Amino acid sequence: MNTPHLAVTGLHAGYGRARVLFDINLTIPTGTITCVMGRNGVGKTTLLNTIAGLLTPTQGTITHNGTDITNKPPHTRIRGGMAYAPQGHDTFAPLTVADNLHLAHHATRRGGPELITRALDRFPRLKPLLHRRAGLLSGGQAQQLAIARALVTNPTLLILDEPTEGIQPSIVAEIEQAITDIAAEGTTILLVEQYLDVALRLADHVTVLDAGRITHSGARADLTDTDAQALLAI
Ligand SMILES: Nc1ncnc2c1ncn2[C@@H]1O[C@H](COP(=O)(O)OP(=O)(O)OP(=O)(O)O)[C@@H](O)[C@H]1O
Ligand SMILES: [Mg+2]
Repeated sequence: MNTPHLAVTGLHAGYGRARVLFDINLTIPTGTITCVMGRNGVGKTTLLNTIAGLLTPTQGTITHNGTDITNKPPHTRIRGGMAYAPQGHDTFAPLTVADNLHLAHHATRRGGPELITRALDRFPRLKPLLHRRAGLLSGGQAQQLAIARALVTNPTLLILDEPTEGIQPSIVAEIEQAITDIAAEGTTILLVEQYLDVALRLADHVTVLDAGRITHSGARADLTDTDAQALLAI
């Protein structure tokens, strides 16, 4: 069997005495889209933050391309090809769109300036906004910048937390198309997505969390839409 792109084994995590994640086991094959779903507050963001290295697990291991990264800082993971666009499309608000992209590109140096051109071609709405401060962007524009900023680090594993949250349908469709295209070029994607229809179109694998535990994990192809609705109607 091929080494999975990412493997999470026996992971427990939380904040101080508040335990949030319990015995999470997740294997993400290279070149696939895995979608994590579940109600508000079940621990989806906590799981992505732990994988990205922003939170240290209390137990368990995280393996990236066969290397144990459980105790590696976020910048080591980014240099290893992991990129994370957190929930809430956080950008460097005082900086321009161009500076947001150049800063992320320069900080990681995982390729030449063509990475910036490619990211802008992926999100052409950003092109006329290059000199605007990121803090002034609309929610949809900021989300596209957040993903573009992840892309300029040339990731092989792209982690996205609710990239369509609070965004109008036409922009949601553009973001969905971008994710489809990025995956088609071979990038592995780990995604939290609350819109069931978007999730079911994108996902190769679906993982459902409830109260910090995995309650379902399997191939999208094995799920009927009715099954998916039942799983999430919790
Ligand atoms: N920094 C923190 N300190 C303490 N508790 C936290 C912190 N961040 C999150 N939590 C708690 O951990 C639990 C899981 O939160 P998390 O943000 O992972 O949920 P989520 O599934 O991403 O929810 P949503 O769908 O609303 O984004 C919640 O009970 C939340 O209140
Ligand atoms: Mg969340």
